This record gives sequence, structure tokens and C-alpha cells, in this order.
Amino acid sequence: MKNTNINNRREFLKMGALAGLGFISSNIVKADESKSINSFRQDLYIQGSKRVLGSGKHQLEVSPIGLGCMGMSYHRSFVPDRQMSINLIRKAAELGLNLFDTAEAYGPMINEELVGEAMEPIRKEILIATKFGFVDGMPSKGLDSRPETIKRVVDQSLKRLRTDYIDLLYQHRVDPNVPMEDVAGTVKELIQAGKVRNFGLSEASVDNIRKAHTVQQVTALQSEYSLFTRQPEKTVIPVCEELGIGFVSYSPLSRGLITGYINERTKYIPSNDNRAALPRYQKDAIIANWPLIDILKEFGDHRGLTVAQVALAWLLAQKQFIVPIPGTTKWAHLQENFDSAAYQFKSDELKQLTTELDKIKIVGERAVGQQAQQINN
Ligand SMILES: NC(=O)c1ccc[n+]([C@@H]2O[C@H](COP(=O)([O-])OP(=O)(O)OC[C@H]3O[C@@H](n4cnc5c(N)ncnc54)[C@H](OP(=O)(O)O)[C@@H]3O)[C@@H](O)[C@H]2O)c1
Repeated sequence: MKNTNINNRREFLKMGALAGLGFISSNIVKADESKSINSFRQDLYIQGSKRVLGSGKHQLEVSPIGLGCMGMSYHRSFVPDRQMSINLIRKAAELGLNLFDTAEAYGPMINEELVGEAMEPIRKEILIATKFGFVDGMPSKGLDSRPETIKRVVDQSLKRLRTDYIDLLYQHRVDPNVPMEDVAGTVKELIQAGKVRNFGLSEASVDNIRKAHTVQQVTALQSEYSLFTRQPEKTVIPVCEELGIGFVSYSPLSRGLITGYINERTKYIPSNDNRAALPRYQKDAIIANWPLIDILKEFGDHRGLTVAQVALAWLLAQKQFIVPIPGTTKWAHLQENFDSAAYQFKSDELKQLTTELDKIKIVGERAVGQQAQQINN
């Protein structure tokens, strides 16, 4: 593997645009063969590549890759035309994705409205995951997981989502003022009432996962997990394995960093992008962390995979119960991400790649201030 220097980074940036156009090389066919490509993708889900989150009565059968819908309205700078996003969500379902992720906090509210409108005609074929947990749905106002708030927010979410049940309801962040047993008990009541089908947590600690699970079986933990954020491997992923809880990896491309499309010159729109204020997305950290992207690019170049595809395939190869939910506003990226599930590592190449990746010490925190205080609780 090469060491990074400015020249090979520049070369990479030039090549990135070309690489972004390619899918797994064996899938590059002429236009008249596009029908067989599409059925190949659906087969990813239909024939055996599906994954299971949770166990027993509270398990969900999902596509290997879900779709994070947040960036269509919130925190990823450019907001695309609303109808385009609705079309993208519906096309994603046609492709075989069945897990769609949103939250009261995204916007707030408007992302759930978008997902609700997109999903209304195909509601029975897909799974909607949403989240509660902030005052007025706004992370900046603080946490609120009081039982009466959870119940009110769920009723509001159901209206925005144009449905009468939520497939997977997450507590977005643990509220230290409300015992986890009370939160789990409230969600249990909502499940009994038929408004919610399954319970999830996000960025919860090992202790809180155990507490919640004793009151109401937890189907999935959703936490940040990517090649830039590997801590869950040592903390929560083993507990998920032990308890039969699925693991949904959010920001699996590290908010776009692990694609090569973002570089030290990238400008964010601070009014709609949390990356503008996060240390990992600043110039020095991006340059310092670039060797990891070089490793992925080197690996992918020899196998017809993009950087994003290698990163997602690597996550999928860690455990059968891991399901990444990359966010995108673009059809080509969505197809590219979905196709990553087709790549099967040979065991020696996965080991070799991981050894190379382990050598890179990631620079820059993923969260600061209030956001940092609210994770791993
Ligand atoms: N539970 C939580 O607290 C929490 C926190 C954050 C996020 N989430 C969930 O996780 C989802 C994903 O997280 P995220 O958006 O933060 O990060 P991400 O999925 O790691 O990255 C998304 C970014 O990567 C870009 N991208 C995606 N695929 C690409 C590809 N193949 N090539 C190049 N660029 C690509 C997207 O831009 P384009 O639009 O240009 O493709 C977007 O800017 C969210 O939508 C949300 O549902 C949950």
C-alpha cells in the first residue's frame, strides 16, 4: 500500500470522478443489458443477502443496505428538489432496499413528512424507522424522553409518516433524567397499542442497552460505525451479538468523508451542515486521515470497486447482523452503495485489508460540545 503524499492525493481527486461513475466492474454492461443488472440488484435482497435485525418475535428482515433519508432535508448542505427525493426513495424500494431511516429531529419534522409522502403508496412493502428524544424535536434544545413526550411524539410522527404503525422506533439519545426502564416501558405500551412494532436505541451505552432489553426486547442499536469510528467493535457490538440485537451503522461513510468526494477544500453550508463544526471535517484532520482513503482506493482499484463500496463491504463483512444505512441524494450513489453488498471478501484479503487499515490512527473527534455529551450514554 502506498503512503499518502500531496501528489497521489491530487491524482486520487482527479480519478475520483471517474471511479464514481463505475459500479463493480463485472456489472458494467451495455445499455440493452440494463434489465439484467436491475434484476441482479433485486436478487441481492431477494436471494439470500437479506439480513436480520433482532431476534424472535422482534426481528426484522431487511435489505443488507438501508437508506438514510436525513440528508434529503437536513445537515448535508445542499437540499435537493423535494419531488426528486420522493422519487429517489420510491426507486430505492424498487431496487430492493426496504429499510428507510428518518427522525423527528431531521428538519425538524420535514424529513418525516417527506418520507411519509414517499412511502404512502408502498407502505406495506417497506420498513420505516424513526426516532424520538429531543425537546420540540430539536437537539439544540436538549433531551426529552419523558413517557408523555414519547407518546405525544409518536402520535405526531405517525401523522407525518402517513401511517398507523412505526416498524422500528428508536430513542435518538439516552436521556439521563429518565430511567431507561421507563423509556422501554413506554415503548412496550406503544407496541401493545399497535402504534409501534419494534424498539431501538441510538448511541446507548452497554449498561443502558442491557437495562432496556430486560423491559422490552431491543431489535436494533443504531450508532455511528465506520472505518473512521471503530469504537463500537469494543463496546456495544459484542453486547448486540450476545443479546441478539441488530446493529444499524449510521454515517457508515463518515458523513461522506470515506468516498474521496470530500477534501480539505470542501465548503459546507454552515446553516444546514453539522460537518462545518466537527473537528474531523476540518482541513488538517482530512489531510491526516487521507491515507485510509488511499488504502481503500488501492484495494478497490484492483477489484472494480469504488472507495465507498469497499468501505461498506468491509462493514458488512464484520458481522451478519450489521446493516449500514448510507445517506444519499443521488441515484447513482444509491445504486453504487447497494451494489457493495454483492462483494464477498476472501478471508485472507479481508484480513490483509484490515491490517493495513488498523495502522492508520484517525485524527479529529466525531463530535464536540453538547453533541459529544449526548453519545455513548
Ligand atoms: N442515530 C443518529 O444519531 C444518526 C446520526 C446521523 C445520521 N443518522 C442516519 O444515518 C444516515 C446516514 O448518515 P450520514 O448522512 O450522516 O452519513 P453517511 O451515510 O456516512 O454519508 C452521507 C454523505 O455521503 C455522500 N455519499 C453517499 N454515498 C456516496 C457515494 N457512493 N459516493 C460519494 N458520496 C456518497 C452523500 O452525498 P450525496 O447525497 O451526494 O450522495 C452524503 O453527503 C442518515 O441519513 C440518518 O438517517 C443517524
